[in-house]
Amino acid sequence: MKTLTVGLGDRAYDIHIGTGLLDRTGALIAAGARPSKAVVLTDDNVWALYGQRLETALGELPHETLVLPHGEQTKCAKQYARCLSFCAAQNLTRSDLIIAFGGGVIGDLAGFVAATYMRGVRFVQIPTTLLAQVDSSVGGKTAIDLPEGKNLVGAFWQPSLVIADTALLQTLPAREQAGGMAEVIKYGALFDESLFALLEAHPTWETATPLLDEIVYRCCDLKRQVVEQDERDNGARMLLNFGHTFGHAIEAHGRYTKYIHGEGVALGMVLAAKVGISQNLTPIGTDDRLESLCDSFGLPMADRFTADQLTAHLQLDKKRDGKALRLILLHRIGDGFIHTLSVDEAVALTEAICDGD
Ligand code: NAD
Ligand code: GLY
Repeated sequence: MKTLTVGLGDRAYDIHIGTGLLDRTGALIAAGARPSKAVVLTDDNVWALYGQRLETALGELPHETLVLPHGEQTKCAKQYARCLSFCAAQNLTRSDLIIAFGGGVIGDLAGFVAATYMRGVRFVQIPTTLLAQVDSSVGGKTAIDLPEGKNLVGAFWQPSLVIADTALLQTLPAREQAGGMAEVIKYGALFDESLFALLEAHPTWETATPLLDEIVYRCCDLKRQVVEQDERDNGARMLLNFGHTFGHAIEAHGRYTKYIHGEGVALGMVLAAKVGISQNLTPIGTDDRLESLCDSFGLPMADRFTADQLTAHLQLDKKRDGKALRLILLHRIGDGFIHTLSVDEAVALTEAICDGD
């Protein structure tokens, strides 16, 4: 097991990463805090696969579990209210604990429940998808969706512990494994060319599997540094949106059913690289390098879009600041930066790269 500490003063917390950590959950929690009881929030897929092991691992910690349906639709006001009522029914108090056991959907929902139940209780993240292990379980962004849009209601609320058992990732559907890899590729592209090169040398799930502990550790370490620098997303943390502006537009264009998040991010990273190249800000060939790596992990890189399919969504991008839009570009692989441009400029560039050839 390797451990990182997110240094946020009195809200600092550890991230434990390794194989087989699920079975040590009770001991790892007890090493940090001694809650008198816990509520476990999870989804049906995760519970069917790993519920019994978590039950055993929690040992003597009294707990009750609410099993929610899997999928993004669970990140909603109705399930949020259901979770709050469940916590109240268990007489959960502020000295107790919520355990988020699942992917990013459960982590975001359970985190928001923890942020708001009794004005805030501690919560432990046990992320079970690659996306959740390298991204959503770290950094304290919690949220639910509204019918009007994703993540529209939420809070910054840091977990008190993250336990990432990389062995759990082997049961993920192949598409979710690839989608998580898109986020890993994102970290390499933004911050660490040697991580990117490591993936290029092991460019499939099978060849990367022996490296998963190292990959998750390196991504969490990069995210840790970003969050320590900019917890509230006013500066450096925006870099983590590389690929996301176009990615969200692609997800929305696919009505959130055709593409999973990581697929949108992968396609979006290539489009962002093309924008950078068109502005002489990014070296020629960066788009091909990104596309080739994403392709080898099974991401749907052959898909193409017209500007019309993306620009309406770009204009709604929530990172817009008045008329400005912040697009994350690359000086080169391993060195991302924030590029501010007007929405009109972004639309023109999108037209040039999508419709221009
Ligand atoms: P998810 O939680 O829906 O999990 C994907 C699927 O995999 C689900 O069907 C789930 O039941 C299943 N699953 C989970 N673990 C499994 C395992 N070990 N074996 C087999 N199946 C398993 O999706 P996700 O991609 O983990 O998360 C997406 C969510 O994360 C979105 O709502 C997104 O907004 C959010 N997100 C949040 C942040 C943040 O910083 N808070 C960052 C990125 C994404
Ligand atoms: N996933 C982006 C962030 O945590 O800021």
